[in-house]
Amino acid sequence: MISAIIGAQWGDEGKGKIVDLLSKDAKIVARFQGGANAGHTVYYNNQKIVLHQIPSGILRDNCECILGNGMVVDPIGLVDEIKMVESYGVKCMDNIHIATNAHIVTPIHKEIDLASEKASNNKIGTTGRGIGPTYVDKYDRNGLRASELGDESYIITHLQKKLDKSIKMGLIEASKEQDIKQMFPNFISACQQIHKHVSDVFRLLHESKGNILIEGAQGTLLDIDHGTYPYVTSSNASSAGIGTGLGFPMNKVDSIIGIFKAYTTRVGKGPFPTELFDNYGKTIRDVGKEYGATTGRERRCGWFDGVAAKYTCLANGFTDIALTKLDVLDGFDSIKVCTHYEINGEQTSSFSKLINQLDLVKPIYERIDGWDSPTAGVTNYCELPENAKIYIDYLSRLMNTKISIISTGPGRNEIIKIN
Ligand code: IMP
Repeated sequence: MISAIIGAQWGDEGKGKIVDLLSKDAKIVARFQGGANAGHTVYYNNQKIVLHQIPSGILRDNCECILGNGMVVDPIGLVDEIKMVESYGVKCMDNIHIATNAHIVTPIHKEIDLASEKASNNKIGTTGRGIGPTYVDKYDRNGLRASELGDESYIITHLQKKLDKSIKMGLIEASKEQDIKQMFPNFISACQQIHKHVSDVFRLLHESKGNILIEGAQGTLLDIDHGTYPYVTSSNASSAGIGTGLGFPMNKVDSIIGIFKAYTTRVGKGPFPTELFDNYGKTIRDVGKEYGATTGRERRCGWFDGVAAKYTCLANGFTDIALTKLDVLDGFDSIKVCTHYEINGEQTSSFSKLINQLDLVKPIYERIDGWDSPTAGVTNYCELPENAKIYIDYLSRLMNTKISIISTGPGRNEIIKIN
C-alpha cells in the first residue's frame, strides 16, 4: 500500500501526528519537497518532538526515512536534528537516506533569504531557512547537490564562488563576508557527517516490497504553482510534487490523504479570507497553541474555509481526509464555515477564479451549532457529541470526500479512525 499525506490548507495542519500514526505499518516514509522550513510536531513517549527535515517515520522501529530529491537539505540543521532525535533514544544511523540529487542549503542561502526579506517592500514572511534561494540555484542549474557532499575541496570552491557572486549581485552585503566565511568549517563538517546518508533512494523506493508513506510538508495553499502566490513556499507542496520530488509516479499511489484542521491557520503574510480578529480567533490560538513550530511566530487563525478546501481537494485528488484539532472547537457556542466568497456584490464558490483577488473577497458563512460535551480525547466516533458529528458530516459533504481520521488531541492515541 502506498499512501501520501498532504497538507490541505496553509501548512501546520498536524501532518506529523498523522504520518506518525500511519507509519506504524510503513517500511518507508519519504519526504518529497521543502526542507527545514517544516515543523512536524509528534509526541514520543509523551514527549513533544519537532521534526524539521527527518520524516516522522523515524520514531518507528525498522522504518527507512527518505529525504527525496525534491527537498532542499540543510546539513547543519540535519546534524542537530539527528542528535536531538538520538537524545530520545531513537536510532538514526542506517535508516536515513538522502537522495543523491537533493539540493543543499548553505549558510549563504540562509543569509540571502534573511537579507532579501529585510530589504523587500513586499515581505513574504519566510521562515528564514534559505529555502527559496536554494531552489533558485537549483533551477538556475548552479546548486550544490547531495552527491557532492563527500568532496571537501569542491564544496569550498563552490561556497567561495557563490559568496563572491552573491556579494557582486548585491544579494549579500560585503560587510557580511567574514561572518559568513566563519560558518564554512561548521558547514563542511556537517556535510561530511551527513554524506554517509546519501544513497540511491530511487532504487530503494522502487524496489520496496513493503508499505510506503509519502509525507508532504507545508500545505497546498503554499504550493508555488497552486497556492496564493507570491505568498507561498518555493516548492510543490501539493500531491503534484510527488512525481518530481521522488521520481515516483502517481499511478502507483493508492491513497492521498488530505490533512485539514477543523478551522484554518496561516503563518507569514498573504491573504486569508476567513481570518478572525475577534475573541473566537484569540481562543483558537490560545486553545490550539497556534504558534509556529519552526519560528515560534503567532499563527493567524480563522474559520474553516470551505471554498479553499474544495479547491485543494480537486488539486490533490484526495481519496480521504484527516480532520485534526477538532477538540480545539470544544466549548464554542457556534462555529462558522465559509461556503462562498462575495466580490462586487456577486457570490461564488470558485477559489481558482478569485485566487488573485482574495484580499478583496468577503467570506459568506454557514453557522453550525457548537457541541455541549468535549471531543477532547475521544477515540470512538459513536462517542462524539451529536453536533460534532453534524459538523464533521457537513465538512465531508462540502468537500465531497470522506473523512476517515479525526484527531481529538495532541497525544498519539487521541484519534478516531472511521472505516
Ligand atoms: P519559506 O518556505 O521559508 O520560503 O516561507 C514562505 C512562506 O511559507 C511563509 O509564509 C512561511 O511562513 C510559509 N511556510 C513555510 N513553511 C511552512 C510550514 O511548514 N508551515 C506553515 N507555513 C510555512
